[in-house]
Amino acid sequence: MLGAAWYPEQWPEARWEADLALMEAAHINFVRVSEFAWSTMEPKEGDYQLDWLEHAVRLAEKHHIAVVLGTPSAAPPAWLTQRYPETMRTKEDGRKDEHGNRQQFDWSNAKYRELAGKMAAKMAERFGHDKNVIGWQIDNEYANESYGESTRTQFQDWLKAKYKTLDSLNAKWTTAYWSETYQDWSQIPIAERYGNPGLLLNWKQFVSDTWRSYQKVQLDAIRAHAEPRQIITTNMMGWFDAYDHYTVSQDLDFASWDDYVGSGQLDFVRNGATHDLTRGLLRKNFWVMETQPGFVNWHANNNALDKGEVRAMAWHAIGHGSEAVEYWQWRSALNGQEQYHGVLVGADGTPVPLYYEVKQLGAEFEKAAPVLAGTTVKSEVAVLQDYNSRWAINWQRHNRAFDPVTALVSYYGPLRALARSVDVVADTAPLSGYKLVVAPALNLLTPTAVKNLEAYVRGGGHLVLGQRSGMKDEDNSLYPQRQPGPLADMLGARVEQWYALETAIPVEGDWGAGTSTMWAEQIGVKSSETKVLARYGKSNGWLDGQPAAVTRKVGKGSITYIGAGLDEATMRNAAKWMLDESGLKPVMPEVPADVEVSVREGDGKRVVILENFGEKKTITLPQAMTDVLSGTSTSSVTLDQYGVAVLRY
Ligand code: GLA
Ligand code: GLA
Repeated sequence: MLGAAWYPEQWPEARWEADLALMEAAHINFVRVSEFAWSTMEPKEGDYQLDWLEHAVRLAEKHHIAVVLGTPSAAPPAWLTQRYPETMRTKEDGRKDEHGNRQQFDWSNAKYRELAGKMAAKMAERFGHDKNVIGWQIDNEYANESYGESTRTQFQDWLKAKYKTLDSLNAKWTTAYWSETYQDWSQIPIAERYGNPGLLLNWKQFVSDTWRSYQKVQLDAIRAHAEPRQIITTNMMGWFDAYDHYTVSQDLDFASWDDYVGSGQLDFVRNGATHDLTRGLLRKNFWVMETQPGFVNWHANNNALDKGEVRAMAWHAIGHGSEAVEYWQWRSALNGQEQYHGVLVGADGTPVPLYYEVKQLGAEFEKAAPVLAGTTVKSEVAVLQDYNSRWAINWQRHNRAFDPVTALVSYYGPLRALARSVDVVADTAPLSGYKLVVAPALNLLTPTAVKNLEAYVRGGGHLVLGQRSGMKDEDNSLYPQRQPGPLADMLGARVEQWYALETAIPVEGDWGAGTSTMWAEQIGVKSSETKVLARYGKSNGWLDGQPAAVTRKVGKGSITYIGAGLDEATMRNAAKWMLDESGLKPVMPEVPADVEVSVREGDGKRVVILENFGEKKTITLPQAMTDVLSGTSTSSVTLDQYGVAVLRY
């Protein structure tokens, strides 16, 4: 599906039809509306005005454009915040937020939830059976917490429900340290950045649970009235880590995210990992609920994507399992905070140059949709992603340059270039279907994750742990065993010491001679069954000649630990080794590194999508395939820069 974020409430009704006709001409087949329109839908408390929205839905229908309704809770109206000041969020510095922007509400506030829930219910009563409404988006980009007294009390109650006794909490957080010991639940503060690691982790988990329950109020309100065919999501933000996306997405029908490049050009490896992260939330196809029509307005340098790049980016999303691409936004509002943002139609109501590229894309989506129907991405490789681990590292990076997402992508990139599809999933996801599971920087290992990983290896799976894995337990306490903690026995090795690095140091072994940057772990081998794969060269003395990566066979499976932060070339060799060890065969022969290859399968179909992000080139296919966009059979494709091929075989 191809969509646009449309805000009819910002324009006279007389104009709507002209917009919809332009959309229809561009093959846009859905709009997302009403997500910030609370002041139009409820101008006074209890005065629900939905006729205009009904009119917009009907006009869209006339133009064969389906509708996704957004609940407006990200932008409370002024009457609400004035009458119920307690619904305003308290900022981290203790000051109250104010009206005039968005996301100024307190997500933990009961009154706010009630009013947002009522609004959602009114909308669902009216549109829950509307045949032109296909889905719902709750709120918009959950982001801001509140730090007021009532939230703090809720947090304390949440801790009480979790730990039962203060003795248990004090023990698990080692509060004897710095006299942090709590004698009463009411003494426990909120800490966002500095503070006891147990406190920090629990606050984030509370934040996540609170977003989940905030969302649940609206989900329940909609589900009480809407037909189940109307599917419900919220638009998330990729690697954004203010809350645990697994916690929040579990109640949704599908996951979606807002894919913005911001500045520069598309980094298709990292962006591909982000698509896969989103697909991994509910382990099924997802939507790109927003993406940039050329450029944004919120970066320091809002350059436009190159001609052709927007189209390539859309196909890149489809290759990773997206079902929809929606442009934010259709037309510039005449006023408001985002006047400079990219659009498809200018303030004057006529198309901007990019409109025609999107129109071409729309025609292509229309052709490819029946072929893509029923297909998804199937992966034999999983890369594990864990919010607890990312938080734990980010609070104590130890080397400022160590970014857990970059660490993840350093594995993901070469693995995906070989395997052509990788799932990014939680450490608690079912793993038995994967031949290879890679956990970069899985710092925090809960008992559930430990069981899951052990069972995977004992069942014949191949597990690779990256740097900093297995250091902390579920309370963000250090494990009393060295890394990888509870998995050290199975590995037959342990991390003797970690070192934050100032400069790259040599690493040599089965994957060739390369370097480790930022971080190095000295591994001690404890079992004769554990084989050293690579060693450090000369560096700080401590690391000289010491094991940098080890592996051990466990039945038909294996466990590997990589203590070095490998450079790209060595990581590529390591990735090849991982695939060989786990018996994985690449789907397509190697293509140049600036070409992305994705495969979607299902319903007896196999679709390969290629995008070329480099110079013009010809790619020979392993067999004849049908070019879905031209309808011809071909055994090679020539792609200009940003060229795309959609092939079926
Ligand atoms: C200071 C403090 C110690 C400890 C060290 C860490 O010296 O007195 O308690 O925090 O720093 O380097
Ligand atoms: C976010 C928001 C949109 C809009 C865009 C601009 O994704 O969801 O409302 O502000 O950013 O890039």
